[in-house]
Amino acid sequence: MTKPSATDSGNRPMAKLTLSPKILDVLDFGTPSAERDISRGLEKYFVESPAYQRVRTGAKTILMGNRGSGKSAIFKVLAKRERAAGSHVIELSPEDYSYELLNATMAAEDAGSWAKQGAYAAAWKYLIYVLVMKALARKGMRLTKGGGREIHKYVRDSHGAQQLGTLSLLMSYLKRLEAVKIGPIEAGLRTRELDRLYKLEEIQNLLPALQNVLESQRVVVLVDELDRGWDSSEDAKAFVSGLFQACVSVNALHRNLRVYMSLRQELYDDIPALYEDAQKHRDLVEKISWSEESLLELIAKRIRYSAHEKGFDVEALERAGDRACWSAVFAPPPPGMARDGSFGYMVDRTLYRPRELIQFCSEALDLARGRTSRLPVPYSAIERSEYGYSAERTKDIAAEYRSQYPGLLSVFEVFRSHPHTFERAELEMLCLELAFGDIPTRGTQSWLPLREPNDLIEILWRSGLLTAQAVDNGRFLGSHQVQHLNLAAVRRFRVHEMFHASLGIVPANG
Ligand SMILES: Nc1ncnc2c1ncn2[C@@H]1O[C@H](COP(=O)(O)OP(=O)(O)OP(=O)(O)O)[C@@H](O)[C@H]1O
Ligand SMILES: [Mg+2]
Repeated sequence: MTKPSATDSGNRPMAKLTLSPKILDVLDFGTPSAERDISRGLEKYFVESPAYQRVRTGAKTILMGNRGSGKSAIFKVLAKRERAAGSHVIELSPEDYSYELLNATMAAEDAGSWAKQGAYAAAWKYLIYVLVMKALARKGMRLTKGGGREIHKYVRDSHGAQQLGTLSLLMSYLKRLEAVKIGPIEAGLRTRELDRLYKLEEIQNLLPALQNVLESQRVVVLVDELDRGWDSSEDAKAFVSGLFQACVSVNALHRNLRVYMSLRQELYDDIPALYEDAQKHRDLVEKISWSEESLLELIAKRIRYSAHEKGFDVEALERAGDRACWSAVFAPPPPGMARDGSFGYMVDRTLYRPRELIQFCSEALDLARGRTSRLPVPYSAIERSEYGYSAERTKDIAAEYRSQYPGLLSVFEVFRSHPHTFERAELEMLCLELAFGDIPTRGTQSWLPLREPNDLIEILWRSGLLTAQAVDNGRFLGSHQVQHLNLAAVRRFRVHEMFHASLGIVPANG
């Protein structure tokens, strides 16, 4: 079905592939979320980055990344492999926590000397230890030596009769703390009671037994999607920063007990208490980042897997490099349209997040199916799918920042039909007009009025809307490409290509 022929591409010989037209009907880039991808073979086409390796070995336990960057993918693959190796895996997701419920249930911080973060950290530790012991007791029912019996007895006596759900278990402990902290209780007694609760007295004496059991069994706890339902409330913040502290503490118990949590970048930026902790435990934080090469690898793996799954002989695809795989599926744009063929064109319209590229590729492929019967997909299909993709991304990016910068979409809209490139002075002027309300925006009262231009430029660069030219005549760089950039010294800015179609911005020439 494939017909390799050697051609020259620049200096490097590259196998040019011609794929059977039948592959067009069945080609599939997978779903845009890891939760659905995992049952469709994610493990087989997973890109094993050094970040994954560091998480797998437990060197890193806090996974940080933007939306769609692959946090859940790492957790899902890790869970699957740990289970296959016989570990107990506990996955906690939004069904297990609800910020709304926490808010409605817990007394406010100013109702007493509450110190919520510490209380949540204690409650999380309690919850994690109980869940771990329950998991061990379930499988190791007949454990009688090495501490198993004590754990089993505790689980049976304290958690056997009433089967509290995960959130209820956490809240029950918080309620105990709350009662002592803000209830009518004599001061001396209060200190003693609090001490007992903070030290997790109920389970403290079981920890040596747990360590013993962990010598021969492994438990992995994964807490993902903490941003779902995020309401920026006091309880939500204490919930997440408390979990961070609990993670660090529980992970010190035994190498065979690993607690991982994932954090969206904006969530982290929204919780000042976390910032301090994360600085202190920077060595535990893994930040997910992608490069053009690794994104190309991700798509090439999906092309090969999908053709193989549908029964095609993919030997030539297996042999061909990632670039050749791509070119067999997507034709290049006309000369001068992109710096690096159709891959360059598409990746330049992403913030280097896998979900973006998967979506863009899938949409172009869908469009092509109705119009052609052969591969590669013509550039016109990419072009036609761009507006929908771009409009969706613009909305989604603004939505990602809704708690920090509400109304960001109306600020993006201000760039509509402007030239794509701004000299610093022009951009500053625009920012001033925004900050003083000369250019009206919607829903931005909480953060935009009187904002310094430099501040606003930083926000727009961090969010992905703007790219910056760090050196004269150099490439424009976004926050997805460089971690830090001295924005104050940048003289020219450009709206990122991903937003062009949706904001009606005319393409740049170089
Ligand atoms: N290392 C990888 N190898 C292969 N595919 C990946 C990898 N990382 C992410 N993906 C794919 O990218 C898409 C987005 O990933 P994922 O759902 O894990 O993002 P996320 O960071 O959890 O996003 P969100 O913040 O919305 O939960 C999914 O289709 C996923 O399968
Ligand atoms: Mg996810």
